[in-house]
Amino acid sequence: MNVLVTGGAGYIGSHTCIELLEAGHTVTVIDNLSNSSLESLKRVKQITGKDVVFHEVDLLDKPALAKVLESDTFDAAIHFAALKAVGESVEQPITYYHNNVTGTLNLCEAMANVGLKNIVFSSSATVYGTPKSLPLTEDADTPIEEVTNPYGRSKLMVEWALKDIHTSDGDWNIALLRYFNPVGAHKSGLIGEDPQGPPNNLMPYVSQVAVGKREKLSVYGDDYATPDGTGVRDYIHVVDLAKGHVKAIEKLATKPGVVVYNLGTGQGYSVLEMVKGFEAASGKDVPYQIIERRAGDIASCYADPEKAKSDLGWQAELGLRDMCEDSWRWQSQNPDGYKQAS
Ligand code: NAD
Ligand code: WQD
Repeated sequence: MNVLVTGGAGYIGSHTCIELLEAGHTVTVIDNLSNSSLESLKRVKQITGKDVVFHEVDLLDKPALAKVLESDTFDAAIHFAALKAVGESVEQPITYYHNNVTGTLNLCEAMANVGLKNIVFSSSATVYGTPKSLPLTEDADTPIEEVTNPYGRSKLMVEWALKDIHTSDGDWNIALLRYFNPVGAHKSGLIGEDPQGPPNNLMPYVSQVAVGKREKLSVYGDDYATPDGTGVRDYIHVVDLAKGHVKAIEKLATKPGVVVYNLGTGQGYSVLEMVKGFEAASGKDVPYQIIERRAGDIASCYADPEKAKSDLGWQAELGLRDMCEDSWRWQSQNPDGYKQAS
């Protein structure tokens, strides 16, 4: 298939480009490089030996977007492009809603104008808010008032907008993929997560402590109702996640209408289990201190991944050891991310 990938220079997007190319698909990337570097796509080529067509375009620039859509005939779009820093979204809600919601509406409009009506959307487990029961199945409630920040609400708003678009025009096929906690990196150590400034997420922070860029990890609370008191999450290797997108575009080709899938492993790990796993994989100490809970955090969150398994034939194959070893290979080979290369 000929696939349009928005946000394809980013963390999950670049890993997905590799899996698409290796499965024999062709790829065109749109990215404004606001949170990424072209170096990631150079490395995609280094790994696969295949080219990606790249357009430096912002989804808020409607004429430029239309030009890309008119430049080729695509079979499906995978829509990663979004701003994703939870704390920043609280400070800058207008920017976040505009980028994530308006950006998606612009994309859908440009797609509809050329008759392209197959889209995979990067949603998030954050849409479930505080889980009523675990593991989370796709039919669990997604009450907007329980989602604690504009970033998360932008994901839920886009889910609803896409469902409404399908209601108005049944030719649309839409896969809403709810990611749990993506971590890890490609086995080559050539691409990985490259946060700008202090990482907000656990794993990149742990990696930066292990490589000596940061002194110690702050663990946000050890008084949750979990086995060791620290938060439990469903960490999923980014390469498994990327493979889920290849399955999703194949599913769209069967014209399923709107489908929703959790992409997780079904296994929860605590913060301290992740720290220990990382120490074992890297051979480095990860000093930490326990501090107060972070506002908006929940105790535990993990997926029931059965629906993706039965419907898509997809399941996560890589475990904690791979997640930690692969993060470490990327971090230790690229202590300053893509910066040192550019
Ligand atoms: P990322 O920031 O690495 O990638 C997003 C890419 O989109 C970046 O390359 C950025 O430059 C680009 N972009 C942003 N706004 C754009 C715009 N208006 N026009 C064009 N390009 C734009 O993030 P990621 O971790 O790869 O996340 C990809 C998607 O998955 C996002 O939609 C994110 O919300 C979602 N998601 C991520 C996680 C996670 O923990 N990483 C979890 C759940 C969902
Ligand atoms: C994991 C655990 C923290 C950092 C967030 C977003 C979600 C999605 C994925 C997407 C929690 C603890 C963390 C640290 C810590 N985003 N922690 N010290 O909060 O599950 O999900 O990222 O684009 O929308 O909310 O992930 O990695 O931030 O935290 O103790 O320095 O690690 O309290 O228990 P989270 P996370």
